[in-house]
Amino acid sequence: MTTIHYARRQEKLRQIAGVDAVLLVPGANMRYFTGLDFHLSERPIIAFFTPDGAMSIIIPELEVPRLNARPDLEARAFAWTDTAGYREAFRQAIRDLGLSGKRLGVDGMTMRLSEWLAFLEADPSLAAQPVERDLVRIRAIKTPEEIELMRQAVRLSEKALDNLLAWVQPGLTERQIAARLEDEMTALGSDGKAFETLVQTGPNSALPHGTTTDRVLQADEFLLIDYGGTVQGYPADITRTFCLGAPSAEMQKIYAAVLAANEAARAAAGPGVAMGQVDRAAREVIEAAGYGAYFIHRTGHGLGLDTHEPIPQIAAGVEDLLKPGMVFTIEPGIYVPGLGGVRVEDNVVVTEDGLEVLTSYPRQLVLKP
Ligand code: CO
Ligand code: CO
Repeated sequence: MTTIHYARRQEKLRQIAGVDAVLLVPGANMRYFTGLDFHLSERPIIAFFTPDGAMSIIIPELEVPRLNARPDLEARAFAWTDTAGYREAFRQAIRDLGLSGKRLGVDGMTMRLSEWLAFLEADPSLAAQPVERDLVRIRAIKTPEEIELMRQAVRLSEKALDNLLAWVQPGLTERQIAARLEDEMTALGSDGKAFETLVQTGPNSALPHGTTTDRVLQADEFLLIDYGGTVQGYPADITRTFCLGAPSAEMQKIYAAVLAANEAARAAAGPGVAMGQVDRAAREVIEAAGYGAYFIHRTGHGLGLDTHEPIPQIAAGVEDLLKPGMVFTIEPGIYVPGLGGVRVEDNVVVTEDGLEVLTSYPRQLVLKP
């Protein structure tokens, strides 16, 4: 297991300006700052980070053993039972932590209205300030430990794809192929999946965010696979597009344009480069090939505990600069209705002097059936 310094991460929460405490609910932020990977459920769990350097948490009694397994957090628990309900725990936390009338920093992307209403019921003088932008900014620069976990996630995901392709053949359904790929990842030590495994065949691949269906894979058509395993919650997010058999001339032309766009974006990216410039590098190649109207999404997104992180945003017009430690995807695509789509997606890390490409799976269209 890679050691993560949670106290160091929590210190950054206390530097967020203008709030008297920061509150986190289960999800990627709670996992990032504490290592606790509770699921968001109907039972509220709220972690508090106060200026005194302490962590406190409103927590259902049944989850207390998982908190007790983490003595390093030195968290003060405000536990509640299903019988008594959680209202008193909210009141007690606000009172004991001296937060009455104070301004609480909340993650507006994950805290639910029901939770904020429970705070207001406990103390109507509380004020909320959204801090989700501060949180994603802190998480945007990855530590060497985080990058190593994503390196491991990529490695096992690529090995799983290799095992899958030794088995895959025309006649299998998209769902069967996806299930086998997930089994391969589990067998190789993946602790989850970054998102629902996407296997799209033939014309189905023309939908960039379509779904895996019962359609049967044929020879000589596109097979698009977008997937990723996780290691300690850190994901890979890889897409490769194949053809079992003989692709048509148009399929080869589309594939070549996407591959060249992917290469151009990788060549353009590095420290100090505007995020939009990387998107432009990919888009120019696809426009020159005559498929500009069929590249209908951004070139890439930030990658971390959330598979889609908002920083960096590899999209047209974003002038913010890439910095060392940022991890993101490069995933240009062309989608032609009726024919199908091609996407080639890699995972990269900005280094001090360039770019490390985490993914190395062959970018090769033709597979022999
Ligand atoms: Co993807
Ligand atoms: Co992606």
